[in-house]
Amino acid sequence: MGKQQYWLQVHEKAKQWIQEAAQLLKDSFKDQIDVQFKSSYDDLVTNMDKKIEQYLIGRIHEHYPDHRIISEEGFGDEVSSADGIIWLLDPIDGTMNFVHQQRHFAISIGVYENGIGRVGLINDVVAGDLYHCIKGEGAYINEQKLPQLRDKKLNESIIAINATWINDNKRIDPEIMRPIARQCRGTRSYGTAAIELAYIAAGTLDAYFTMRLSPWDYGAGLILIEEVGGKATRADGDPIDLLKQNSLLVGNPGLHQEIINHIKTEIGDKGKFIEKPAE
Ligand code: IPD
Ligand code: CA
Ligand code: CA
Ligand code: CA
Repeated sequence: MGKQQYWLQVHEKAKQWIQEAAQLLKDSFKDQIDVQFKSSYDDLVTNMDKKIEQYLIGRIHEHYPDHRIISEEGFGDEVSSADGIIWLLDPIDGTMNFVHQQRHFAISIGVYENGIGRVGLINDVVAGDLYHCIKGEGAYINEQKLPQLRDKKLNESIIAINATWINDNKRIDPEIMRPIARQCRGTRSYGTAAIELAYIAAGTLDAYFTMRLSPWDYGAGLILIEEVGGKATRADGDPIDLLKQNSLLVGNPGLHQEIINHIKTEIGDKGKFIEKPAE
């Protein structure tokens, strides 16, 4: 089997599994959901997060026993290097939305080979939209191919930004964030990084800016965004480390550059702070 043929097959399998998992989530609406706290009152996990993660891991291990999995709820593998094939898996991205709103949550699957994104899928379960791609073949929403992103200016852009980062916090000087929120055309916050990244790929949003995400949150989204010519770095402009928590600034290249220039000026000339992510 040729290389591209292999990724085509992985994409087909992942597409089937993500759709089966989405159906399990929709079916669960009629059941009582068991909700627990993890680190705090706003860090939720449900029986469905665990069930979907175990379901997908079962399928991946059965078909691809030599692949490794990094996933949120602890059923994946211990992975300390990007070598080989790694699946970055978030069984429910937007658990709080799943619990409170029964919408705006997604399943996110990104497959990497030696640190290079090969296959990405984000299933916006209630909207019924599947964002998906194979590296080099373009990105799609369902059957429709997504166009390459075009450059935009801040004042004609909608930016996904979380109020946490505009208000007082230790990760970024709010004075860096506020002018961005003020000068853009509008801000949005959907509570699901995966859908926000899918929206960037689709041009529904123009940039997404957040100070802390984990590999399973952005694994699939970054592959989709690269496929449509978008740009993704940490908030200080440095490259994203696939195996760690990162801040993230993602958008069309022109807007990404405009925001990076703003951040660099604020840090360099005016002494404002931006935290380096924990090692
Ligand atoms: C969360 C969502 C949220 C983001 C958090 C993530 P989860 O993922 O993506 O939008 O702000 O940082 O942890 O916990 O619902 O999978
Ligand atoms: Ca979580
Ligand atoms: Ca997540
Ligand atoms: Ca999750």
